[in-house]
Amino acid sequence: MKTMISSRSMGLKGSFRVPGDKSISHRSIMLGSLAEGVTEVSGFLEAEDALATLKSFQSMGVNIEQLGEGRVRIHGVGLHGLKKPESDLYVGNSGTSMRLLSGILAGQSFDSVLTGDSSLTKRPMRRVLDPLSLMAAKVESSDGGTSPLKISGKQALVGINYVMPMGSAQVKSCLLLAGLYAQGTTSVTEPAVTRDHTEQMLRGFGYDVTTDGNVASIVGGGHLKATSIDVPADISSAAFFLVAASITPNSDITLQHVGINPTRTGVIDILLAMGANIQLLNERVVGGEKVADIRVKSNQLQGIEVPENLVALAIDEFPVLFVAAAYANGTTVVTGAEELRVKESDRIQTMAEGLQSLGVDAQATDDGMIIKGGSVLGGEIESFDDHRIAMAFAVAGLQSNGEIKINNCENVSTSFPKFVELASNCGFELHAQ
Ligand code: S3P
Repeated sequence: MKTMISSRSMGLKGSFRVPGDKSISHRSIMLGSLAEGVTEVSGFLEAEDALATLKSFQSMGVNIEQLGEGRVRIHGVGLHGLKKPESDLYVGNSGTSMRLLSGILAGQSFDSVLTGDSSLTKRPMRRVLDPLSLMAAKVESSDGGTSPLKISGKQALVGINYVMPMGSAQVKSCLLLAGLYAQGTTSVTEPAVTRDHTEQMLRGFGYDVTTDGNVASIVGGGHLKATSIDVPADISSAAFFLVAASITPNSDITLQHVGINPTRTGVIDILLAMGANIQLLNERVVGGEKVADIRVKSNQLQGIEVPENLVALAIDEFPVLFVAAAYANGTTVVTGAEELRVKESDRIQTMAEGLQSLGVDAQATDDGMIIKGGSVLGGEIESFDDHRIAMAFAVAGLQSNGEIKINNCENVSTSFPKFVELASNCGFELHAQ
C-alpha cells in the first residue's frame, strides 16, 4: 500500500476487534521460546514487527508453528537451548525486537548480529548497550551507537542496579531479560512508570520478578515454564478509532477485547480529560491482563495541558492524540514527551510539520507540542515511513475540509495490516492505492 486517501465521513458505527497487542505478541514469542514445554498463543499479532521476532527465534532453532488466525504454538527450548543462527538476525522496523533481543542474546553461548531497516538503523541503541556492558556483556554498535549490533556470546553476566535515565519499557525489559542469565540480582529503576508486560509475563511463565515502587528486580539462574497466552487487542491500535469516533459526529463504535493494562491506558485518561465520551464495558481479567470492550461516541473535545505522568502511559498514541488536539476547542499542551523524537520517526517533528501543512497552528517544542485546535484543511502528507504517523493522518482526514493524501504507507503493515479494511467497514472514507 503506497498511499492512503482519507476524506470526510458522516459517522462511524460498528463493534469489532483490532489486531493483537504488539508488545505482548513480541514477548509471547521470546518467553515461549525460552520456556520449557509448549506455549500456546492466541490473538497473536500477525504483522511484520512481531513476525520479525518470530522468525528470529525460528532461525535460532525454535520450532514455532503458525496455526492461522492468530494462533501460534511454540516448542520452548529452555533458557540455554537456543542455537547460533546461520545468518544475521534481521528485525525490520522493530525497536522492541532489537532492544529486547539484545538482552537475551547477550546471555547466549554463541555470537550473533542484529540488523534492521533504514529507520531502525537510525535509532539509539546506546541506551541498552551501556547498561548491558555494565553487566559484562559484549555488544558492539556503529560509532554513532546504532545497529548493526554485534553481540559476543560466552560472557559471564553479572546483575546490576541500574537507574534508567529515560522512561523506556524496552530498556527495562532488555535488562530484565539479560538478568535471567546474570549472576545475582538485576534491578532496574525507572523515572516514570512504563508498560510492565515483561514483568507480568515473566510471572505468568513462573519466574519471580519483584516490583517495589519504580524498581523491578529479577534473580538469574531460574527457569521458565510454558503457559498459554491470550493476547488482547492492542490499545495502541484501538487508539486510532477512539479519536476517530470522538471527532466524527454521529459515531458510536465498540472496540472488543482491548487490553487495558493500567500501564497502557494513558490515551483513555487523556481523551476523557479532553471530554471524550468513552465507556469501558465488561471489564475482566484474561490470562493475567485486564481487558474491556470500549464504547466511544462522538463528542466535542477540549484542549488540555496533558499531565506529564500520563505521557509514558500513552507514548505510542501521541500521533493520533495530536490529531485529537487539532480538532479540540482551545489549546493542548504536551510536555515531557521528548522520547517521541526517537520513535520510528521523530514524532514531534513529523506530526508538527504534517499538521502545519493542513493549516493547523501546531508548534513543536523540545519535549512536546502546543496545538491550537480549530479546523483542519486537506493536503498531502509524508508518513516518513512511520506506521502511526500514516494512520494518525488517516484519522485527521475524517473531518478535514478537503481530502488528505498520505504518502509512503507501506509501514502500516508493521502493526496493523488490515487497517484500511477495518476502518472502511466502520465508516471511514479511506482508500488505499
Ligand atoms: C514498547 C515500548 C515503548 C513503545 C514501543 C513498544 C515495548 O518503547 O514505544 O512501541 O513493547 O516495550 P520505549 O521503551 O522506547 O519507550
